[in-house]
Amino acid sequence: MDAVKGGNSVNERCRASIQTLEHEGREGATCPPGAAMSLSQSLILRQAAMVGLDNPSLLSDLEGAGMVAELEQGMARILGTRHVLAISSGTAALHAALLALGIGRGDEVIVSPYSWGQSVSPVLFVGATPVFADILPDTLCIDPRSVRERISRRTRAILPVHLFGSLAPMEPLLAIAKEHGLAIIADAAHALGAEVEGRSAAVFGDVCCFSLGRGKLVSGGEGGLLATNDTGLFQRAMAITQHPSRTRREFGPDCEQLHDLGYNYRIHPLAAALALASLGDLPLRLGHRRRVWNAFQQGLRTVTALRNIPCSPPDSWAAYGIALSWEGEPAYRQEIAARAQELGLPLRCGPVKTPLHLRISQTALPFKVKRHFTHLEGACPIAEAHCAHKEIWALSATDMDTLLPAEAHTMGEKLQALISSYVIS
Ligand SMILES: Cc1ncc(COP(=O)(O)O)c(C=O)c1O
Repeated sequence: MDAVKGGNSVNERCRASIQTLEHEGREGATCPPGAAMSLSQSLILRQAAMVGLDNPSLLSDLEGAGMVAELEQGMARILGTRHVLAISSGTAALHAALLALGIGRGDEVIVSPYSWGQSVSPVLFVGATPVFADILPDTLCIDPRSVRERISRRTRAILPVHLFGSLAPMEPLLAIAKEHGLAIIADAAHALGAEVEGRSAAVFGDVCCFSLGRGKLVSGGEGGLLATNDTGLFQRAMAITQHPSRTRREFGPDCEQLHDLGYNYRIHPLAAALALASLGDLPLRLGHRRRVWNAFQQGLRTVTALRNIPCSPPDSWAAYGIALSWEGEPAYRQEIAARAQELGLPLRCGPVKTPLHLRISQTALPFKVKRHFTHLEGACPIAEAHCAHKEIWALSATDMDTLLPAEAHTMGEKLQALISSYVIS
């Protein structure tokens, strides 16, 4: 799909975008900032690679004192948390958070069945048991009432996912966690930019994990962030994931965890440099994604067969893709997606397809899993029904970055026309 004027190759797109940006100034730009970002990132990458050629030791930042520290400080300012640890991926951040909280074999962590698999696999990495709570039918985030029903004497933490950039219902979840002495580890891989009354997603819960991977608002190509106000947790996460020279530099030679055996979950300094290069543009790119989201919805107007997944909070969500719910005849869903693709719309029946609790019981896993009744069919009926009959992924976050709002509007209109003709014919 060639969504942007100026040709198909990334370089052509970037050149066209930059020329337009130079003419119009960034705020009034008619080109998607996602395309221009590629150019600024590619410049940074080239510069960093040249520096690395001259001084290869800069390509391995054991002390986390260069680009990595700059990224962490920049993100701590944006997220409003005392500490941010830059790390190799969002999955690694969740793994480190669980380890830093001392969660392991025999413990249970309450998770959502409707997410990407990486939200749950870190629970399996540490040998704990994922216990699935069902989701809310409107936002598709974890349902606090179902969470409450899943609590046992083994429960140690709740792991909500801020899905598609909308915040999970944190107020009731925090209340449940407080009542039962549980930790909250939030998976905010999609939620950079989401805010409640000016407070970022990162401040809700004990620790909040972001991804800097593909399609994320701040991306290093790969990478992750662990954000927390808890200095002890931060120190343990650092010792678990970083080179001891960094832990020694930041917490001194007497640091308790200095000699613990850990992982190498360091972010590559070039990934940190790429992510850092995108911080200045973050409001611009978030604004662009929201405009694309709104334009698509306006083009689509009201189609009874499609329900919009509400974004939460409504005025400051992170706009990570456009998810919809098919409310028409279930048999038509696959056909509509196939017909939409023929028209050049990137619509598909996804993204989750099989709820995570069923993947545990239906697929071969490289981990030993203690079975739980929530791993069986029927345990999370809303998530199961949504995956089987309803889920539609209209635009991915990457699609949003490369589309102009006017193009998204046209896509919404095309989808509207397709569904109207299809349902009538
Ligand atoms: C909801 C969710 N959680 C966790 C992750 C893992 O992030 P990463 O790919 O950086 O490991 C992803 C990846 O996109 C995700 O979508």
